[in-house]
Amino acid sequence: KRPAGAPDASLALPINKVGVVGAGLMASQLALLFVTNLRVPVVITDMDQERVDKGLSYIRGELDKSVAKGRLHGEAAEQLKSLVSGSVSKDVYADADFIIEAVFEELAVKKQVFAEVEAVARPDAILATNTSSLSVTAMAEDLKHPERLVGFHFFNPVAVMPLVEVVRAPHSTDEVIATAFALAKNLRKTAVLVKDSAAFVVNRVLLRLMGEVSNAFDDGTDAAVADQALDPMGLPMTPFTLAGVVGLPVAQHVTESLHAAFGDRFRVSANQQTLIDNGVKALWAKDENGGQHVP
Ligand code: CAA
Repeated sequence: KRPAGAPDASLALPINKVGVVGAGLMASQLALLFVTNLRVPVVITDMDQERVDKGLSYIRGELDKSVAKGRLHGEAAEQLKSLVSGSVSKDVYADADFIIEAVFEELAVKKQVFAEVEAVARPDAILATNTSSLSVTAMAEDLKHPERLVGFHFFNPVAVMPLVEVVRAPHSTDEVIATAFALAKNLRKTAVLVKDSAAFVVNRVLLRLMGEVSNAFDDGTDAAVADQALDPMGLPMTPFTLAGVVGLPVAQHVTESLHAAFGDRFRVSANQQTLIDNGVKALWAKDENGGQHVP
């Protein structure tokens, strides 16, 4: 069955080489996901060789872990490793069919990245952004071919979170959206089509939940009580632990985008820094030492 809003799958273009811009937390997980499921060359880039090497060693390490767990043959892991390469130059994207960025969550940075990518990429290569909250339309503004940009938003940890938000901006073509849906299917993810509005759908809901827990803490509720109050609802992680998984600076940027779009429904908690410095760290430290959530 065709997913709601997805164009005809026959419009999807083939993907024989993938470029990932960035080698950080999300980017290296994305590169691993792409190479494992598509078995095509995947190339990552970052600002310096140290970051590139860190990303590559994360990918190789995860493939080794899969071998140790008996999920992958050693030979297959070596083949996958040989498909992944890294560079500090964006020239490596010249023959890529699909290039996704997962760099710092700031519009100016992402626009700069796409300007550099477009200077080397084929005119028919599809460009994607893993942005959590920024406007895909704004990101495409200065592109020569804005019609080829799509939002393709994954969740952390990428290997296990089943959803991907496909963001259709006004300029996106049916071919590009169909390719994103086909790609998501090949990556064994469930794709949903969302509008290009601040933080799309998932993060709007998630940040509201995390924000209210922070507000309860601001209002004087004990950090551990605020964090654990939702446990009986069966959340896989407490909100503060999840904030650590998402990354506190990322969570803050998403909240700022939501505040700009929707006003006081979303705001960066007054005590967020205190929480980061004391509450959350204390909670995590205790957690690692025996599973107790005591601030
Ligand atoms: N990388 C790869 N695999 C991981 C992983 C990671 N970082 N963390 C956990 N896993 C795998 C484990 O290997 C395990 O797989 P197997 O059972 O096949 O061995 C499986 O996930 C379950 O792990 P655990 O049993 O250790 O732990 P769990 O049952 O508590 O599940 C979890 C871990 C899946 C991360 C779960 O806690 C969870 O779903 N948490 C919520 C995560 C979430 O909501 N993420 C979205 C954040 S928002 C975001 O990312 C978007 C944004 O734009 C800001």
